[in-house]
Amino acid sequence: MKDIITIDGPSGAGKSTIARLLAKRLGYKYLDTGALYRAVAWKIKQDNINTEDKESLIGALSKINITFDGEKIMANGTDITSDIRTPEISELSSKVSVIPIIRDYLFTIQREIGLRGKTVIEGRDIGTVIFPEAENKFFLDASFEERGRRRHKELKEKGGEVSLKDTINDITARDNRDSTRQSAPLKKTGDMVYIDSSNLTVEEVIAKIMASLRTS
Ligand code: DC
Repeated sequence: MKDIITIDGPSGAGKSTIARLLAKRLGYKYLDTGALYRAVAWKIKQDNINTEDKESLIGALSKINITFDGEKIMANGTDITSDIRTPEISELSSKVSVIPIIRDYLFTIQREIGLRGKTVIEGRDIGTVIFPEAENKFFLDASFEERGRRRHKELKEKGGEVSLKDTINDITARDNRDSTRQSAPLKKTGDMVYIDSSNLTVEEVIAKIMASLRTS
């Protein structure tokens, strides 16, 4: 399957920036799957859902209608694009993403969106679980320090007051959880092209991806 380009990797590796730009250059759609997990976390917080209670969790998922147009993420018609970018929702989305009911629910949504046509999809389990049959798979990485610095800059630009040390600690905790959970952990496999973006510019990363794309 050559219509799907998967980009997996830890938080702060630059996946969103790269995936969005790559999609634009190639005329592909862009899907940020982390935004879907964040939207579910937002809904759980909003409705005060007890995630231990299977029935209420299934009930909440049946009532949420998430859409993503490449820029805006909406939950039942409400634009939650900036509401899902807080450190609290980052933490909660990582916590709820270990729950198999939630992963199964989002599996179907991600497959449906991807199968509509040429798409760049980024997340943690895209090349391993969501589109294992994709032929263009990338793993984007960067050092803890660099990822912490990027996240910290982003948060500061949005007016956040968090310290660099706390940002690095949050990222470390989240990565540990995302990589060690039982259900679809973040994993680099032999069929993914590994790119360490620590010392690369956005254009250099894009060039590396372009150079290894198989499109025909
Ligand atoms: O990419 P992000 O930081 O916006 O993702 C938020 C959380 O969602 C992340 O910590 C783990 C979860 N996630 C996941 O489990 N699988 C994905 N494909 C994407 C995100």
